[in-house]
Amino acid sequence: MVAETTVATGLDHLNAPTDEIVLTIDSLKKYYGMGGGFAFFGDKQELKAVDDISFHIRRGETFGLVGESGCGKTTTAKTVLGLESPTAGTISFEGQDISTMDRVGKKNFRSNVQAVFQDPWSSLNPRMRVRSIVGEPLEIATSMTKKQIADRVGDLLTEVGLNPYQANLYPHEFSGGQRQRIGIARSLSLNPELIILDEPVSALDVSIRAQIMNLLVDLQKEHNLSYLLIAHNLATVRYMCHRVGVMYLGKIVEHGDTDPLFDNALHPYTKALISAALPSHPDIVREEIILPGEVPSPINPPSGCTFNPRCPMKIGDLCEQLPPKLADEEEGHTVSCHLYSNSLEAARAQDGGAAAISAEPELAAAE
Ligand SMILES: Nc1ncnc2c1ncn2[C@@H]1O[C@H](COP(=O)(O)OP(=O)(O)OP(=O)(O)O)[C@@H](O)[C@H]1O
Ligand code: SF4
Ligand SMILES: [Mg+2]
Repeated sequence: MVAETTVATGLDHLNAPTDEIVLTIDSLKKYYGMGGGFAFFGDKQELKAVDDISFHIRRGETFGLVGESGCGKTTTAKTVLGLESPTAGTISFEGQDISTMDRVGKKNFRSNVQAVFQDPWSSLNPRMRVRSIVGEPLEIATSMTKKQIADRVGDLLTEVGLNPYQANLYPHEFSGGQRQRIGIARSLSLNPELIILDEPVSALDVSIRAQIMNLLVDLQKEHNLSYLLIAHNLATVRYMCHRVGVMYLGKIVEHGDTDPLFDNALHPYTKALISAALPSHPDIVREEIILPGEVPSPINPPSGCTFNPRCPMKIGDLCEQLPPKLADEEEGHTVSCHLYSNSLEAARAQDGGAAAISAEPELAAAE
């Protein structure tokens, strides 16, 4: 279970997003073919890293993906960035399917969608000076002169809280937090619309995490940036995100606005994650839900609800046989679990034979 720090509440410190949708992920799947196995008999094994997920991100909004290690967060990010090709589903940027973009469209997309990764020690080339690291995207993608690039690099370093003279230094001459600032400066160089933040603070000392989170929040306000924030730390997600999707074994099992999701989690898995986090106030007493066992293999996931072997609220055959479907349970709050009537109805509607599976009808009502 995820080790946690205190979870702060309230979104007043965040940017106010617009209604304009920047990124749409629709029914995205990323399966990896596994070598060996029983491919010889036509029974090829697949690892379902991302298994039919959908979400969108608005302009100026941070959407968080949270879940235990291996649930498919980074694979989702890589697929959006074009580093992996989807097995199925579409990714649309500003309304256009990226797989159908022409060369110019793809070039614009690459400028407009940038990334900051977890490890500031390995993500910066140790042999390049900071001015080259931050200026490289400008050299590749623009016709700016050397002088214009040098000026822009100085401005970017200032914007992320560094000093322009530090452009002459190498990455090893900086602390972890400063290196992450360099990575953020580089990601901003082409004025992107969307930045994918994959665990941007988890490799940093706890004492400087808040500084980097606040920098990201401030930069979002300044440039009306959209963020896809990937994290396993709930405190980071709650502090930075407007909306959150909870992933388990390649699927989103619950998503919603940040405060309702944290204050009234619906899915048993989300409840367990939150119960393992420290409460926002010492007077709040919370019983920790310890989940039994490990996350199952995405190569051969359990039938029915993939969470059923660990679920403390499992209903019975129904959970073992019928895969639940995501459905709105409250406005802006969606869950995939048979404990909730809309989700159960959606699952039954998808699988006609499900009516035969026994379940206590009263258990199928929302608690
Ligand atoms: N190139 C690949 N080939 C085969 N399997 C892969 C590949 N990349 C990722 N996987 C598998 O896909 C699943 C999801 O991995 P992913 O890196 O997306 O998880 P994650 O949620 O980012 O985990 P973490 O919190 O540890 O970073 C894992 O089971 C992983 O082993
Ligand atoms: S569908 Fe069943 S096993 Fe899955 S989370 Fe809900 S109660 Fe638990
Ligand atoms: Mg990851």
